[in-house]
Amino acid sequence: MAERGIGLAERPLPDTPQPIPALEAAQLRIPFAYRDAVAEHPDVAAWVRTIADAAVAPNADGLHPHYGNTGRRRVAHGPSLLLWGNTGTGKTHQAYGAIRALTAAGCGVLWHATTAADLYAEMRPRAGVDPEFMLRRIVRVPLLLLDDVGAAKGSEWTEELNFRLLNWRAQNRLPTIVTTNLPPVRTQDTDPRKPVLRDKVGDRVLSRLSGMCTPVHFTGPDRRFQRR
Ligand SMILES: Nc1ncnc2c1ncn2[C@@H]1O[C@H](COP(=O)(O)OP(=O)(O)OP(=O)(O)O)[C@@H](O)[C@H]1O
Ligand SMILES: [Mg+2]
Repeated sequence: MAERGIGLAERPLPDTPQPIPALEAAQLRIPFAYRDAVAEHPDVAAWVRTIADAAVAPNADGLHPHYGNTGRRRVAHGPSLLLWGNTGTGKTHQAYGAIRALTAAGCGVLWHATTAADLYAEMRPRAGVDPEFMLRRIVRVPLLLLDDVGAAKGSEWTEELNFRLLNWRAQNRLPTIVTTNLPPVRTQDTDPRKPVLRDKVGDRVLSRLSGMCTPVHFTGPDRRFQRR
């Protein structure tokens, strides 16, 4: 290097970290309040590592070894997460933290985030909207955040939609982050007057969720009251 006149010692050191384009693009789609979110919860951080480790490059099956690089690794199959706990305990924060961490880890992440209520509203059959087409797109997205399940008023139609969405994702082991305010099932400690997730989504959806998700319980005070 020195022979070519490139003096390493004289080269100014960059004073800002190199931008990660994928992370910058993802940032714009993340709600403002969660743009600095970090997945510091140990169970969420462990899930991020599992998903990042399982990410595979397209055509990584060794069929064309002569063509060199097989492309950037992409989020593939893996377990899902069920983040549950009282309002304001940081579930959505950790969910976006996980999306940011995966993007920063350098794997290609095609992700979509929606609340269950927004999803039901968007999918309502109406003129110019093909709900089947929308459902087919959303069931296949490699990483899905389905926020606030069980908060909206349920109906047979929402139960059917949840079932079709989660059944497909469970069968194909597509990573999904589900958040809810409700405890998944009734236990001795559950207030008998309050509903649990099973009451809201039905047995069959709850069964899929328990099969595909690692449950993570969020406790503590409502962080929104602590903010100034
Ligand atoms: N680890 C954290 N560090 C800093 N701020 C946090 C953290 N976790 C949550 N917050 C902030 O606390 C507020 C509530 O968090 P969040 O929206 O994630 O709660 P939630 O559990 O999703 O609540 P809800 O069930 O009502 O949707 C947000 O403004 C969020 O930015
Ligand atoms: Mg939330």
